[in-house]
Amino acid sequence: MKRLAVLVSGSGSNMQSIADSVNRGILKGLVEIVLVISNNPGAYALERARNENIKAVCIERKSFEDEISFNGAILRELRNAETDIVCLAGYMRMIGREIIRAYRGKMLNIHPALLPKFGGKGMYGRHVHEAVVKSGETKSGATVHFVEEEYDTGKIIVQREVEVFASDTPQDISKRVLAVEHRIYPEAIKKVIEGKV
Ligand code: GAR
Repeated sequence: MKRLAVLVSGSGSNMQSIADSVNRGILKGLVEIVLVISNNPGAYALERARNENIKAVCIERKSFEDEISFNGAILRELRNAETDIVCLAGYMRMIGREIIRAYRGKMLNIHPALLPKFGGKGMYGRHVHEAVVKSGETKSGATVHFVEEEYDTGKIIVQREVEVFASDTPQDISKRVLAVEHRIYPEAIKKVIEGKV
């Protein structure tokens, strides 16, 4: 069994989809979620984690003097939990370089667009879907990729398209993309564990 940690900042619906796959889906018997870390004390993801009986901790940037000690605290929690794989699931902060180095090839992120399109600094959450509407693209989608030091640049593990219609609002696209995210994140984790990347 691989020991998985999930980093979150918000609703945690992707974390929930991973937990559901562990409980009764394609990750059953392969993965155990050992830790959820949120940088946001108000994240609904923390409540979801507790409902699933998963250890959930909040590590807030403002409790630390600098980025280095903040990242050090995250790394310590990951190591204490003997984490094998780290999944960023709606984690809305830049992840520290030292954490990326410690988990290179074992840290995944989900992005709500067809990377390399609509990635990079400032492209997160609703901003991505707003940019897709403005661009007039007829397709969007979701991407699970390995985390590298530059935003949204690591090797792609799974990517899936959704259609975009002329009448779509950013919220419409967000809903359609999120439904795909919930399917492809567990698939990507399985691929990584089975060495099929
Ligand atoms: C998801 O759409 C995820 O792809 C996006 O935030 C949402 C989190 O939803 N992540 C990013 O934009 C990161 N660049 P969730 O908290 O319900 O899983």
